[in-house]
Amino acid sequence: MNILAIESSCDETAAAVVCDGHRVLSNIIASQVEIHARYGGVVPEVAARSHIEVIIAVIEKSLSDSELSWDDIDAIAVTKGPGLIGSLLIGVMTAKTLALVKQKPLIAVNHIWAHAFASFLDATKPQFPMLALTVSGGHSALSLYHEGLSREVVGETLDDAAGEAFDKVAKLLGLSYPGGPAISKAALGGNPDAYKFPIANLGKASFDFSFSGLKTAVLRQVQQITGVNPGALDSVKSYQLDPQIVADLAASFQKAAIDALIKQTHKAYLQYQPKALVVGGGVAANTYLREKLLEIIPEAIFVPPVLCTDNAAMIGALAYQKYQKGQITDPFELTADSSLEAI
Ligand code: KG4
Ligand code: ZN
Repeated sequence: MNILAIESSCDETAAAVVCDGHRVLSNIIASQVEIHARYGGVVPEVAARSHIEVIIAVIEKSLSDSELSWDDIDAIAVTKGPGLIGSLLIGVMTAKTLALVKQKPLIAVNHIWAHAFASFLDATKPQFPMLALTVSGGHSALSLYHEGLSREVVGETLDDAAGEAFDKVAKLLGLSYPGGPAISKAALGGNPDAYKFPIANLGKASFDFSFSGLKTAVLRQVQQITGVNPGALDSVKSYQLDPQIVADLAASFQKAAIDALIKQTHKAYLQYQPKALVVGGGVAANTYLREKLLEIIPEAIFVPPVLCTDNAAMIGALAYQKYQKGQITDPFELTADSSLEAI
């Protein structure tokens, strides 16, 4: 079964063709990173307009790269939410129109679920119940996915998402956007024990995360080093940090943030004893997270790095599972939904 999948929830316009829920025949991603980098973050109106400009070309390229024709496509899948509403609307409207014109079944999926189901695009097929650590720019959660495609959230962030913390701290250190790759690159030359940053202690029974205290601790450290009171996190222009200090701060922050993710994931893994542990979302591309978590839980399944950040192949992977369960969407009923619960 060939699914043409579309993703436009944030700042990547993506389309992919996925065969039988696991074989990626094409995977096209038009990133807007360069457009938003000059603002230090995603500007929603600019994102929506950029999606409109490229979405048709992205879909056409994914179909031609897959070497299939419309006759070979069995269904169309799209991200319904969560995300930026203006961005979501472009993908949803395009998918609805294509489903009606080409007379194909339509499958709407939740973006956060899809980050976890990107693990099905790997050679090892995860079994249910599957514990998923999904860590990206907008959300961080530990969830149990069950056979009947239900989701039980066992832990989530109480404030910032993990990727958001990387992005904010990168800005504070004068590193480029997006912050995750910039911090992990800077951290390579730094000492992770140079600064002792706190890991939130939310109690033995909690599988939640909290990154705001860590972010503030880095801010205080920068204030102490520079003698400048940055006040707000974006006033970085008023001070200059030595590159070695940036590397040490990046390495120490990364260690604290990732150790917190690993601690909660390990606890949840022991508590729920799932048949699989999968890790996905942009932050799952982090090498330190991969190495450290695999030391503790060697059987953990990491989504391949290229499929960790936003893409449409993961939308196709989840859509296939939903199609198997008869979860088809009426194109006349489908609306974009920016809320976390979008189903
Ligand atoms: O999944 P994603 O592409 O978009 C959302 O759904 O939000 O995740 C983007 C996030 C950004 O915050 C980015 O800084 C972070 O993932 N990220 C990383 C790395 N690569 C991307 N964080 C840590 N280490 C990385 N190597
Ligand atoms: Zn995402």
